[in-house]
Amino acid sequence: MGKCCKCNSRLLCMCLLPCMMTGHLLVYILVSIFVAITYTPPKISVHYVAPGTSANSSVLASHPLHPFWNLRLEDSALWNQMQHALDRRHNPILTGNTSGILRNPKRKRVSKIKDGCFPDCMAQCSFPHVNGFDGFPDQMKAFVRSMHCREYPSLISQPGLCRKNNSSLDLDSPMLVMAIKSQVGNFENRQAIRETWGRSGLVKGESNKKGGLVRTVFLLGRQDSSTGPHPDLKNLLQLENQRFGDILQWDFRDTFFNLTLKDLLFWQWFQKYCPKATFVFKGDDDVFVRTGALLDYLNKQWDEHKLWRAYTNETEMNLFVGDVINNAMPNREPSTKYYIPGGFYKGAYPAYAGGGGVVYSGSLALRLKRVSERVHLFPIDDVYLGMCLHRLGLSPSHHPGFLTFDLPEGDRGKPCAYKSVLLVHRRTPNEMLTLWRWLQNLPDHC
Ligand SMILES: *[C@@H]1O[C@H](CO)[C@@H](O)[C@H](O)[C@H]1NC(C)=O
Ligand SMILES: *[C@@H]1O[C@H](CO)[C@@H](O)[C@H](O)[C@H]1NC(C)=O
Ligand SMILES: *[C@@H]1O[C@H](CO)[C@@H](O)[C@H](O)[C@H]1NC(C)=O
Ligand SMILES: *[C@@H]1O[C@H](CO)[C@@H](O)[C@H](O)[C@H]1NC(C)=O
Ligand SMILES: *[C@@H]1O[C@H](CO)[C@@H](O)[C@H](O)[C@H]1NC(C)=O
Ligand SMILES: *[C@@H]1O[C@H](CO)[C@@H](O)[C@H](O)[C@H]1NC(C)=O
Repeated sequence: MGKCCKCNSRLLCMCLLPCMMTGHLLVYILVSIFVAITYTPPKISVHYVAPGTSANSSVLASHPLHPFWNLRLEDSALWNQMQHALDRRHNPILTGNTSGILRNPKRKRVSKIKDGCFPDCMAQCSFPHVNGFDGFPDQMKAFVRSMHCREYPSLISQPGLCRKNNSSLDLDSPMLVMAIKSQVGNFENRQAIRETWGRSGLVKGESNKKGGLVRTVFLLGRQDSSTGPHPDLKNLLQLENQRFGDILQWDFRDTFFNLTLKDLLFWQWFQKYCPKATFVFKGDDDVFVRTGALLDYLNKQWDEHKLWRAYTNETEMNLFVGDVINNAMPNREPSTKYYIPGGFYKGAYPAYAGGGGVVYSGSLALRLKRVSERVHLFPIDDVYLGMCLHRLGLSPSHHPGFLTFDLPEGDRGKPCAYKSVLLVHRRTPNEMLTLWRWLQNLPDHC
């Protein structure tokens, strides 16, 4: 009797346990579905849109008044919320056609988006309310206050840089435009670059002699007076520009979190004055580039693209190379300059090419410009480029020759170690000149 009871209860256990577990799971699922359905999302209060987006609030389609599924935006961060609103404005399913759903008079529009912040955007727009704004560091506050502004007057421009000569309006098509982010005070860096890797003109390749036409410009903002008074270098800059004609300057504070503006404004300039250039290098003024080797690489890519194009009619070239960083998370350490508070951005970064420098095709530059109108400014420029690429459905390619984090300590003084390098970070002006001399006559044994 006792034995049978034991075996019965074991059988019972084996039968009942899975049933009970499935039952619990079912209850759990039902409850969570119920919670999700009854949940209504908070109104997103975004007071402005980036200028440049099609500013037509009447085009905004009525989105479902009740959530289709969980849209818990209240616990996401400012940038994510704003981007979400912008995405919804441009969602072709929701907005594409005003003739359909919008006609329905019963539907009222829910989202309030104030348009037309530009041109007086600083004065007119209230910046959005953010939880924890008071706890943001100063540079983050300054960024949030001005992040809806992306048009700044040009102070120095180079409309003729890509023209064949003075008298004609014909555009030349440089092989490579080098856009180097610099600051007003960094004259020495710019001069070292002009004398070495950033020389404008016809540049030979290293192995095959094909090379190409290179044009260099330096991207500058206005000296940042918030860090203290600066000596007035305006006249010096004017002189420098008269002599070299390679400065692009805009009227915004040249701070770390404003670097993204340089990309945007450069793309505008590029589209207007140099749209036929085949490739763009974008980098900092403290890197060293082996321009000849880079041209070899680009010529090879270009030849492959032409071959590919002949077979597929694919006209757009999607090259974007650099030192790619995958699955990076925002820096949450308040003492660093890269600090991004959780109240501003949540989630991982898309794949992006790190600092120092990247190369992309001219056709991609034009598309990046277009798509950037639909991506809210982000304080870290490399990440912003990654976001724009992501929107285009592309991802950056990694090239081992881009050494954003430099060579191993022991190799830095050996010329041969630079044989396979395309870009190395970071070098002082003196080091640039030394390196350049080394590389002109690399020993054969390398
Ligand atoms: C904005 O909307 C109006 C009327 O709804 C329309 O006539 C106009 O073409 C739209 N503008 C743009 C840029 O979509
Ligand atoms: C909008 O819809 C109408 C008919 O519903 C169609 O004729 C028109 O082509 C559509 N416009 C766009 C831009 O899709
Ligand atoms: C280009 O034009 C400017 C004035 O329009 C003139 O000062 C300059 O000398 C010209 N340069 C050349 C190379 O012709
Ligand atoms: C400048 O352009 C004109 C007309 O396009 C041409 O005749 C002239 O040879 C060009 N000069 C130079 C130096 O390329
Ligand atoms: C960027 O530049 C604008 C215009 O000069 C300025 O108002 C803003 O504070 C700057 N942003 C940052 C983060 O420094
Ligand atoms: C490429 O385009 C040309 C002209 O538009 C056409 O004749 C040819 O068939 C196309 N080739 C392919 C592979 O689509």
